[in-house]
Amino acid sequence: MYKTKILLVAILALAAFSPQAAEISLDALPAINDFAIAGGETEQYIAATNGGLYHSHDRGQNWRAHKTGFGLPATMVATTQEGAVYAFVVTLGLLKLDGETNQWQAINNHFGSQVLRQLNVSRLNPSRLVARNHYGKLIVSDNHGEDWHKLSGPYQPNSEAEKRGRELYVEKCQSCHGIDGIGETYTKQALTDQNYLMAPALDESAHAWHHTDEQLVETILEGSPRTPRMPAGKSSGVSAVDARDLVAYIKSLWTQRELDCQGPKHMECM
Ligand code: HEC
Repeated sequence: MYKTKILLVAILALAAFSPQAAEISLDALPAINDFAIAGGETEQYIAATNGGLYHSHDRGQNWRAHKTGFGLPATMVATTQEGAVYAFVVTLGLLKLDGETNQWQAINNHFGSQVLRQLNVSRLNPSRLVARNHYGKLIVSDNHGEDWHKLSGPYQPNSEAEKRGRELYVEKCQSCHGIDGIGETYTKQALTDQNYLMAPALDESAHAWHHTDEQLVETILEGSPRTPRMPAGKSSGVSAVDARDLVAYIKSLWTQRELDCQGPKHMECM
């Protein structure tokens, strides 16, 4: 995750120097991450670039920055068979193009540390969206992109400890560590302030599993020595039993690989 952040900060710094409203040539376009052709009355080429969303109405000769998401890394753009257009812009989340006004509408910005790289909409059930994140995992929405879960299905606890841990998590941790432990969602502050430590994903995508149960319990109870942003749970009524249940919940977000490789063993699994 930290590597991703460094990359995004660098991209953001570069993007700040790009021209905004003026039309630019194909050669001047920032690096293209993804591309789509939108239909409608006139054909529109849309490029998701490191410096934001750009569109062209003359088949890619000249481009104009879209004011939504200008300067922010755009990581994917996709058209559906019905003609809808979706894009993902870091710090704005998933956007959908309104065909009437040609404006991007916000759909969901709760992706945590995930950045979307690809998106498909089911033809049989247009409310079902399937996306690939930059960790290479597929995630699914069954309500037009408003809520997302893993491909395996919405979260289900397997024990009382996991269930209780999840309730505590939603109440005390989710605002920073994200829904189902997907980490903190990127904001401009997080990307530009070098001293801002983001709340990492606690599911399998970051490195929570490099720690033993005891180390996780200690971080939860004592907080992080590196930043007051990770609070000491014991100061806000988190008991040792609560911390254990929170760890049970966090571990229920991991796959068998992380469970087998937890703690000091993680070096052998890298
Ligand atoms: C106000 C935001 C915030 C809240 C609320 C919060 N955390 Fe954190 N958490 C952080 C930050 C920021 C870090 C990174 C600390 C660091 O890098 O040293 C962190 C780190 C952690 C880590 C270490 C992860 C790793 O991979 O090393 C664990 C475990 C953790 N938090 C669990 C929790 C739990 C459980 C709760 C709820 C009881 C919680 N946190 C509440 C911000 C928060």
